[in-house]
Amino acid sequence: MAHAELDRLQACLNFSLDALRKEMDNSQLLPLSQHSSVEHPLDDPTTYLPSTALFDARRLSLACLGELKNLIQSPLDKRMDEKYSAYGAASIDILIKTNIIDYLSDLSNPSEGIPVTELASKFGLDSQKLVPILRCCAANGWVRETRDSSFALNRCSRTFVEGHAGRRLNLCTPGFMSIVGAMPRWVTESDWKLSRSPAQTAFQVAFRTPLQRFSWVMQNPQALVPLADHLQVLGDMSTPGIVADYPWEQLETPIIVDCGGGEGGLVTAILDAHPSFRAIVQDMENVVALTSSIMKERRPRDIENGTLKAEAHDLFQPQPRIGNEYSFILRHILHDWPDKEAAAILGNVARSLGPKSKILIIEMVAVPNVDSAATTSAKSFLLDGDDKRPDHCVPSHFGSASKLVNAFSVHMLSLMNGCERSLREWESLVKGCGLCITNVYPLRAHTSVIECALDSRVLL
Ligand SMILES: C[S@@+](CC[C@H](N)C(=O)[O-])C[C@H]1O[C@@H](n2cnc3c(N)ncnc32)[C@H](O)[C@@H]1O
Repeated sequence: MAHAELDRLQACLNFSLDALRKEMDNSQLLPLSQHSSVEHPLDDPTTYLPSTALFDARRLSLACLGELKNLIQSPLDKRMDEKYSAYGAASIDILIKTNIIDYLSDLSNPSEGIPVTELASKFGLDSQKLVPILRCCAANGWVRETRDSSFALNRCSRTFVEGHAGRRLNLCTPGFMSIVGAMPRWVTESDWKLSRSPAQTAFQVAFRTPLQRFSWVMQNPQALVPLADHLQVLGDMSTPGIVADYPWEQLETPIIVDCGGGEGGLVTAILDAHPSFRAIVQDMENVVALTSSIMKERRPRDIENGTLKAEAHDLFQPQPRIGNEYSFILRHILHDWPDKEAAAILGNVARSLGPKSKILIIEMVAVPNVDSAATTSAKSFLLDGDDKRPDHCVPSHFGSASKLVNAFSVHMLSLMNGCERSLREWESLVKGCGLCITNVYPLRAHTSVIECALDSRVLL
């Protein structure tokens, strides 16, 4: 009997895995292994940019796998999987918090693994608790159980070793689980359930504060450095794609201003690749103090000769950098904010533009979750745009491969009533600020560049 959906997904998975293998060979990458304890270049998007075809094949493979799982898993299993995935995250938090990860990484033979009793006595923990926690990590592909109750790091958990990207991403944020826990009541029952204010969200409920999230961080300086580092790594995940896939040489302005640019990692990567630009990082006063000290340490010459500057600027005040000398980046800024505030921020930048200036909004673009059968636009979302490809029958939002975009959207909602916007929503926001979208550049990353300029038909 034909199993139409199963057959199509299986064919698509075979097709995408064949492409993945071919592109890995073309890129001279070693085979992936879950038994290896050595990191693979594909494990760190902050340092390795895959070829377009490899990026594509990997995303399509993951989309097919996710759709296959959705198709064949029982809803009850799926619900339990989802609900209890919080324990998977907590189990990894424990391995990081206790430094078990670093200990396993420093062993003379890290792939052999050590008995849990040894770990328990080394860290003063209960081995009866550690076994289920480590097995939970193993089931999620983070560690290996090399013998009954002996565990070793695998390639993936290397990312949590001190100094590596996963550790710096620092997702063990205190209070995160309380935001998740507060979210359903906030949306359905609270006095704020119809509020669109950035200061009336699950964040305020969970943190018992009237302050919006960024004001809260300013009042709690101990939270500033971990948050700035976390945001920097999150940004770094798309930096190689932004630098390589946006045509920087076409920008007609000599200076790039990164609004809310945090620690300044993006503009420094752009300067490395395009040294003819100058760059300014703007952020809130406390953040800029941190940014300046990081830049002085890492780029003293650029600071001295004025190629790179950090300056305090409030996104809600008129933009002081005016005219044709400047183009602006807003990466992961507007998704934080609801429409009213996002329009105020974008409007401030729009009013400072010269005719040659561009605004580059760099965000994840949410794609509506329409049925796979109802769309062929999955093709147009493939970076190489090859029309001869088979219809992949994955939804245009890439199914499971877009889980992150959708989870982020709910996270932004819970923090500040923000969201990840669809292209239609971006168009409306941009148009309302007297701008037009001049192009959208998909990247080898979760984000895209939405390039905007003054709409010449509109007088600001
Ligand atoms: C999500 S982070 C993005 C950081 C950076 N653009 C990146 O992509 O790595 C948001 C940034 O906006 C800054 N920010 C928030 N409110 C601001 C305000 N009113 N004025 C200036 N910067 C602000 C934060 O300090 C933070 O650096």
